[in-house]
Amino acid sequence: MTKILIVDDEESIRHMMRMTLELDGYQVLTAGDGPSALEIFRREMPMIVLLDVRMPGMSGLQVLERIKAMEPESEVIIVTGHGDMDMAIECMRKEASNFLTKPVSDDLLTAALKQSQEKLALRRRLKEYTQNLEILVREANVELEKSYRFRENLIENSPDAIVSIRKGGEIVIFNSAAERLLDYTKSEVIGNMNIVSLYKPGEAKKVMKDLRSNDFGGRGTLNKREMVLLHKNGTEIPVSLSAAILYEERKEAGSVGIFHDLREKRELERQLLRSEKLSSLGKLAAGIAHEINQPLTGVLTFASLLKKKFKDDPRTHKDLEIIVRETTRIRKIVQGVLEFARETPMKRRTVPIAEVIDQTLEIIVSQQRFFGITLDKLYDRSIPEVLVDPSLMEQVFMNIILNAVDAMRGNGTLTIRTYRENNCILVDFQDTGCGMPEAMIDKIFDPFFTTKDSTEGTGMGLGLAVSYGIVKNHEGDIEVKSKEGQGTTFTIRLPVPEQ
Ligand SMILES: Nc1ncnc2c1ncn2[C@@H]1O[C@H](COP(=O)(O)OP(=O)(O)OP(=O)(O)O)[C@@H](O)[C@H]1O
Ligand SMILES: [Mg+2]
Repeated sequence: MTKILIVDDEESIRHMMRMTLELDGYQVLTAGDGPSALEIFRREMPMIVLLDVRMPGMSGLQVLERIKAMEPESEVIIVTGHGDMDMAIECMRKEASNFLTKPVSDDLLTAALKQSQEKLALRRRLKEYTQNLEILVREANVELEKSYRFRENLIENSPDAIVSIRKGGEIVIFNSAAERLLDYTKSEVIGNMNIVSLYKPGEAKKVMKDLRSNDFGGRGTLNKREMVLLHKNGTEIPVSLSAAILYEERKEAGSVGIFHDLREKRELERQLLRSEKLSSLGKLAAGIAHEINQPLTGVLTFASLLKKKFKDDPRTHKDLEIIVRETTRIRKIVQGVLEFARETPMKRRTVPIAEVIDQTLEIIVSQQRFFGITLDKLYDRSIPEVLVDPSLMEQVFMNIILNAVDAMRGNGTLTIRTYRENNCILVDFQDTGCGMPEAMIDKIFDPFFTTKDSTEGTGMGLGLAVSYGIVKNHEGDIEVKSKEGQGTTFTIRLPVPEQ
């Protein structure tokens, strides 16, 4: 029920109006002067007020001003007597809604109230509509923000590097994976670097040319192109690139590239090749070695006999001595090959890896070749034990330590470090020796690859091939890092046995 406040100093008018309005279904409040009208208004907040302008004390105009200050939306209808026209106009300026002249006819009153009610209803609807609109806009914004953030997250958390450029090559997107892959930070790159500096010379142009051609997955796309990116430190990182041109209103605006790191894949391929090569070579070599071994023993035995026989003939004796020496060398090589291809079962037990290393060192450190070399042992004693065949592992460590000693030529530091990384125990053998060129690293595990002078019977090029086989049989791995002239680090990785 709509509340109406009637303000009039004449009791009879208040009474008349009340009767009419109550019949019309309004809830009627009345006041005889300004102050009590304001008091009731404040308390009851009626949305329609019928206000007599001419009252003793506080005038209608003053009451109107106060009411509008309290509730600007309220409908105040002014009721005037004859000759109050100026006052009525003044009231209309102060935002009264309407005015009626006394004596007020029922019809006019009803019509004026109806109008006011319609205005109120309209305003209410407008208000609701604006509120709804605000809610809608707010919701739409949230959705927009969400989808924007979702897309940003998608780019940022992609496991592959994502780089986007404007036409001309300026980099505008550089996600975390790209940061990790190339070691640049976003702020170093975005807005500061051109894509050209991440590619080898000429490569950027070629990529763009191929992107625009039809031949590599359709115009505007490029599918899984294997290429290299330049790391911050200048090294080349093998990657596969998928790219697309970005259009804005049908015009080329830039492009986006997804780079997948191929290093791990390459390393696996390399290892696979290595182990395949080793096992086929190993089988072949073992077969041949076995065949050679018997006749060789015969040659050696008879040459030794002849040597004794001709001990008084110095020339023949010397020639025979050469035959015996060279044949002995062949036999050593053959034994090495047999050793390499040996398939005897392992005798594994759990041991602290440091113990195996120390047992190996005990044999070597007293040898003359070790003099002049500083040994630095950095063992982490808290790491778990490993499940290995200790004598085979000793052989591996021996090979690697002797190689390091050879590489340092009697002067340098050998650092041996043991530590844990995830579920693996690692042993680093770091030397300050001659190091080796990148291209050589691929070959050192090949059987018979050696750079050593083999006249002394060592340096057959089997040490690392044998070691590699042994470590692989222990479900482990050997990694090499080397810089020519600066030194080499061999890292043996062995799994922590499951409890
Ligand atoms: N720590 C190292 N520093 C530099 N070069 C190394 C190192 N370890 C190995 N190499 C290179 O790898 C080659 C192969 O090593 P590998 O142990 O297989 O054979 P080798 O030492 O030459 O002979 P063998 O071990 O059979 O006596 C070596 O000849 C050497 O050129
Ligand atoms: Mg060796």
